[in-house]
Amino acid sequence: MKGRILVLGSSNVDFILRIPRFHSPGETITGENLITAFGGKGANQAITAKRLGADVLFLTKVGNDHYGTAYRQNLIKNGLDQRLIFKDKDLPSGMAVIELTPKGENRIIASLGANSSLNETDLKKVYLFWKDIKVFVAQLEIPLSTVKTGLKLAKEHEALTLLNPSPPVELSSSILSLIDFLVPNEVEAQILTGIKWKKDKDIRSIAKRLIEMGPKNVIITLGPKGLFFKNQGEEIWMKAYKVKAIDTTGAGDAFLGAFACALSEDRPLREALRFANGAGALATTKLGAQPSLPFRKELERFLSKMAF
Ligand code: RIB
Repeated sequence: MKGRILVLGSSNVDFILRIPRFHSPGETITGENLITAFGGKGANQAITAKRLGADVLFLTKVGNDHYGTAYRQNLIKNGLDQRLIFKDKDLPSGMAVIELTPKGENRIIASLGANSSLNETDLKKVYLFWKDIKVFVAQLEIPLSTVKTGLKLAKEHEALTLLNPSPPVELSSSILSLIDFLVPNEVEAQILTGIKWKKDKDIRSIAKRLIEMGPKNVIITLGPKGLFFKNQGEEIWMKAYKVKAIDTTGAGDAFLGAFACALSEDRPLREALRFANGAGALATTKLGAQPSLPFRKELERFLSKMAF
């Protein structure tokens, strides 16, 4: 049976600059014309799950500026409930500056703005919406204390909890033990464990260390190398689908949103990972975070053509 997903997290306006290469400190280079798109890890994850047909609530905060007004409209247009979109009266909306190379690689600097004032009071204001939540999803572009309260509330409501530790910060065992699925990328996984990934087999030690830190399951997304899943009893390597990557921004978010959607539909683990793997791959084939998040039909068509 389909269950409800609650995503708690950020909304950013992304300013994307296509550059020929990542440059050195002190060097000036020219990029192509600036592109603006809606982004933010929380919103990207919520919108993915929604586009894939899940029943989704998204709790977020925008700024008291024209970006905030436009962002609210964007969330409503994507079918999200406006009663969970708060506005900070003093802070600007969240923004991100994204450098993008011809290989589709990116570097992101997020200015959190109103996301940084999404607090426990906001969580409590929407307490009634917690009823019937089956899957809870959070990331770290909002205060850690809010994420921790969200995870606790989710556990009180017997929901499955997913944390995307991005941007990575030190996480206490009291937070990590509240997590059913910790989903970092390979860079975040190395920062969280302090273990460097030199050879492919190091990913097993990194995942093992993460499991020892408290979450029940770990999924490390590895970009073009696919993903590595681990819990106490099982390990899964899954290759990435081969696509022509234009922009990897938001691919991890598409993975998270799709995985949450699959869990909300009670899909078995391998099937849920495959579904998410496909969504992540598809999200790299277009420019911009939200413009590239897949819809259900598109993803099903893509997966039906793939051998595994
Ligand atoms: O994960 C991609 C997102 O990270 C971008 O949309 C940007 O807003 C940053 O939050």
